[in-house]
Amino acid sequence: MSFVVAIDGPAGAGKGTITKLVGQKLGLVNIDTGATFRCVALNMLQEHIDIQEEKRIQEMLDKINIEMHPDGKIYLNGEEVTHRIRENDVNDLVSPVSVLPVVRNKLLEVQRKIAEGKNVIMEGRDIGTVVFPDADVKIYLDATAEERARRRVMQNQEKGIECSYDEVLQGIKDRDKRDSTRKIAPLKKAEDAVYVDSTNLAIEQVVEKIIEIIKETTKKES
Ligand code: DC
Repeated sequence: MSFVVAIDGPAGAGKGTITKLVGQKLGLVNIDTGATFRCVALNMLQEHIDIQEEKRIQEMLDKINIEMHPDGKIYLNGEEVTHRIRENDVNDLVSPVSVLPVVRNKLLEVQRKIAEGKNVIMEGRDIGTVVFPDADVKIYLDATAEERARRRVMQNQEKGIECSYDEVLQGIKDRDKRDSTRKIAPLKKAEDAVYVDSTNLAIEQVVEKIIEIIKETTKKES
């Protein structure tokens, strides 16, 4: 039996950072499901497959191999792609790719398999609603679009990437709209998820709050 903590929420809410820290503190394996969608987008770029070519996408998915190693490294068909999947060409393709039913069906299977038999903290958009509707703990991590844009601009500055706040904010709003209005597995809070607004909280405070929620929920269940 595995223990599953599901963390869902929009782009830039801090899911990646928070999930990693909570996972380390509680000894849970950290699984970033967005990375699996990113691997599919990268594989399409590598094989020059267009988003319209459903048959070729299906063939590619039939042989795709995505591995997430305990050291945080991600492998696509045997090649390490941990950083490659964060580059701009993948950023641009991943959202439209994540809407395709063939892709979502395949990745549902991949994500459940990656978690099999492990105690995990899994972040994404539909973990508590679709991937693990029976997750032991469900959290919906949110922040205002303006705050998420501010954090993204700061991250970019640290990496030496120039960007304008207004463009980043518009990008976030567009992505929110696409992620939450798509037909299959849209971004939405599961009814039984605990809502956490990180807008005015520091990373450490969010981590503490989530650890508290996990402890409270598991205490109630046992
Ligand atoms: O969290 P991220 O930015 O790495 O996610 C990349 C894309 O994948 C994002 O546009 C939404 C999509 N995604 C999804 O549809 N379902 C998930 N469980 C995780 C990510």
